[in-house]
Amino acid sequence: MSVEKMPVKMFEDDRQASAAVARRIAAVIRERASQGRTAVLGLATGHTPINVYRELIRLHQQEGLSFANVVTFNLDEYWPIRHDAMQSYHRWMNENLFNHIDIPAANVHLPSGEVAEHDVLEHCRQYDKAVRDAGGIDIQVLGVGRSGHIGFNEPGSSRDSRTRPIRLDHITRSDAASDFFGEENVPELALTMGVGTILEAREICLLAFGEHKAPVLRRAVEGDVSAQVSASFLQEHPNATIYVDEAAGGELTRMATPWLLGPCCWDDRLKAQAVIWLAKKCNKPILRLTDEDYNENGLGEIGAHGKAYEMNLSMFRRLMNTITGWPAGKPGGPRRRVLILSPHPDDDVICMAGTMIRMCLNHDVHTAYMVSGYLSVFDHNVLRYADMVKEFNRIFGLGAEQAKAVEKHIVAVETHIDKFLGSKKACDQDTPEIQEIKGLIRRAEATDAAKFCGVPAKNVHFLDMPFYNTGQVAKLPLAPRDVEVIRELLERVQPDIVFAAGDMSDPHGTHRQCLEAAMTALTQYEAAGNPKPELWLYRGAWQEWPPEQIDMAVPLSPMETHRKRMAIFRHESQKDRAMFPGPDKREFWQRAEDRNAATAKLYDKLGLPEYQAIEAFAKWPVTRSANAMGNLTAE
Ligand code: F6R
Repeated sequence: MSVEKMPVKMFEDDRQASAAVARRIAAVIRERASQGRTAVLGLATGHTPINVYRELIRLHQQEGLSFANVVTFNLDEYWPIRHDAMQSYHRWMNENLFNHIDIPAANVHLPSGEVAEHDVLEHCRQYDKAVRDAGGIDIQVLGVGRSGHIGFNEPGSSRDSRTRPIRLDHITRSDAASDFFGEENVPELALTMGVGTILEAREICLLAFGEHKAPVLRRAVEGDVSAQVSASFLQEHPNATIYVDEAAGGELTRMATPWLLGPCCWDDRLKAQAVIWLAKKCNKPILRLTDEDYNENGLGEIGAHGKAYEMNLSMFRRLMNTITGWPAGKPGGPRRRVLILSPHPDDDVICMAGTMIRMCLNHDVHTAYMVSGYLSVFDHNVLRYADMVKEFNRIFGLGAEQAKAVEKHIVAVETHIDKFLGSKKACDQDTPEIQEIKGLIRRAEATDAAKFCGVPAKNVHFLDMPFYNTGQVAKLPLAPRDVEVIRELLERVQPDIVFAAGDMSDPHGTHRQCLEAAMTALTQYEAAGNPKPELWLYRGAWQEWPPEQIDMAVPLSPMETHRKRMAIFRHESQKDRAMFPGPDKREFWQRAEDRNAATAKLYDKLGLPEYQAIEAFAKWPVTRSANAMGNLTAE
């Protein structure tokens, strides 16, 4: 049985899904070329399709895929916006695809953000006409917004809508805030192909990656067709396929509650998932679940007919065994070298300050900040620190010669800061000097916070991975140097235990790239004959592990929880309001406290001991149930 109303292909990660879509596009291009016809592609922008375009570029460069006979139509563009603006989809498409392939400029079409207001409607009509004149779209690539939009067809867009101006939904504007350095700078309007225009494509591939897309994906795939979720209109298309990674597919019934669909392939992981779900549903601690509870909720296979008692006990023990107050080993045991890999300079304390504090009591703890994080420092912080340096120099003075040299340098930097920041517009990119100063501010804060948790200053490392240093939100693909800096650190520290951020849905994809680089570095490190460290994954600031995936739960006392808050406060530049808070308006310390308290509450409700807060970790490799594995598409 399936409750999915359109075909969904689920892949282990976004790269595999993107490669499958790129292969499909290449097949259409080749097929059309063999018929002596042009292929018409409908294209999307955003974070989602980037690896599709990288793969198409690779196919062009290495496998001779030609775009000479390809015509493209993009879905949308902000309005008004200049084509060369950093956030313009014109620029984005040039930088991420068109500049790297042999497509003739005349074959490329995007709605224009430069068109004058009185010409907008005619421009949109002409856009639809151009699609028709080209013979219609052969294959359309789509992402999906958290508002459910395809293109920029926000909630309320009708089934028959055509290319037109549209007011952006507040969720969309908040998701775009980081690209524009603040939500207030995001244009209120955009031009978008309509739902009707999109549905006329002969084939549609919708991509969705990351946990943050899971709720909307479920509504689009399993819910009713509704103008509230324009992606749901794809259910009415005869040839639309959804390509997802496991994270985005996580809330589909076949992943979240597969037992409701029919017989399952039961293993420990799935049993844990089911029992926790049942306890929550019945609002009972695990040990009080009865045969009837199992039976009446579709879990007769594992719990009914007198089996509930044993099932309850084994799941209860399993969860009890995750709890430990000594995350790297008890006092008196071996002193272990621990390396915490923190993508941004504050992820370590946000996600695991309590665990850091406890491990520092009896182990040798190192922490490494993978990217500089300069992007999230406000300009006024730079001015404040520049004033401080000036005053410091005036009061404490230096030897005459030194003072002169330093003074000269400071004056130059100050002049630069005043001049640059004085005339900087909201969406301007920082100069390398300002980026450097912002990076220094975050370094000082990270060192302070790590020391506060008990990490010695000599054990604090800054990797400054190059992929991050673009001056803008969009990042470079990983390069060998990104991996090398981590591998060199592994060689120096020789850790027994490594902690890394294991999440897939950070808004800018930085955590994803950091994890990928860390995994590659660890593989190389082990291949070089070094002993394999234990690897634990914590979740970033956005969400927690699902309870069945928690392998280690570190309880925090009220005092430790308070200390954790103080450690997060050391990141002053991120306090009061972070530059990129995302749609969640709470500050990071509040999110951390709420999340750790929620895990503690969940353990309590399941009938385990009641704690103030719990930090949760999954052990690598994160095992999936055979059932979940069975959902993966092999291509
Ligand atoms: C972009 C577009 C949008 C995006 C959607 C998802 O051309 O039409 O519908 O596909 O907003 O954006 P990302 O991929 O950035 O999550």
